[in-house]
Amino acid sequence: MKHWDLFLAPYKQAVEELKVKLKGMRSQFELHSTHSPIEFVTGRVKPIASILDKANQKGIPLDRLEEMQDIAGLRMMCQFVDDIMRVVELLRNRNDFEIVEERDYISHKKASGYRSYHVVIRYPVQTIEGEKKILAEIQIRTLAMNFWATIEHSLNYKYKGQFPEDIRIRLQRAAEAAFLLDEEMSQIRGEIQEAQAFFTRKKELQQDGDM
Ligand code: GTP
Ligand code: MG
Repeated sequence: MKHWDLFLAPYKQAVEELKVKLKGMRSQFELHSTHSPIEFVTGRVKPIASILDKANQKGIPLDRLEEMQDIAGLRMMCQFVDDIMRVVELLRNRNDFEIVEERDYISHKKASGYRSYHVVIRYPVQTIEGEKKILAEIQIRTLAMNFWATIEHSLNYKYKGQFPEDIRIRLQRAAEAAFLLDEEMSQIRGEIQEAQAFFTRKKELQQDGDM
């Protein structure tokens, strides 16, 4: 539908631009050969059916869909829990968008077991009709948090949020296991980083040798 194309265009533009920008942050760490707090970045525009579902659930009128914070969504995955606040700090220091809200589901995990740090931004998109500011949600989480959230999300889809008791308990246990995995990884962080730095140096030396 034409109307949807027009409405979604600035969101698509924003997701594409933000993917380049946030991935660029990772590349800069690589350039400095230091541990990158960013492992990888993904982005998506919310499908129309999901926008309508959510508007319906939350009582958002269709002429006020721009109030929805996650039509444009970005995810930044980190290796370690400590990396998350470093990434948030990097986002706070940027001048190309304004942070309108932060939600810390790491200090305060959700009842479901969900953990992540959410930053909602107001991002200016340049259009042929001038600047248009849209909202976008950036979710920052570890690989373990992402693993859990991805699995839980697909199960949620299957059971429409009404989990059978045994699944609900398993998901809670899995959330606890993901939490413990993050803790373990933090404990051996120093060791892991030494190994990663070693292999990066080795690779660089090999590449130099190839030239
Ligand atoms: P939403 O209606 O889900 O947007 O809730 P909200 O406006 O209160 O925002 P919130 O920060 O709670 O959640 C925004 C997004 O975080 C969701 O669209 C999901 O991507 C993610 N999220 C939040 N809670 C959960 C959860 O329990 N499980 C999973 N898998 N993802 C979640
Ligand atoms: Mg939301």
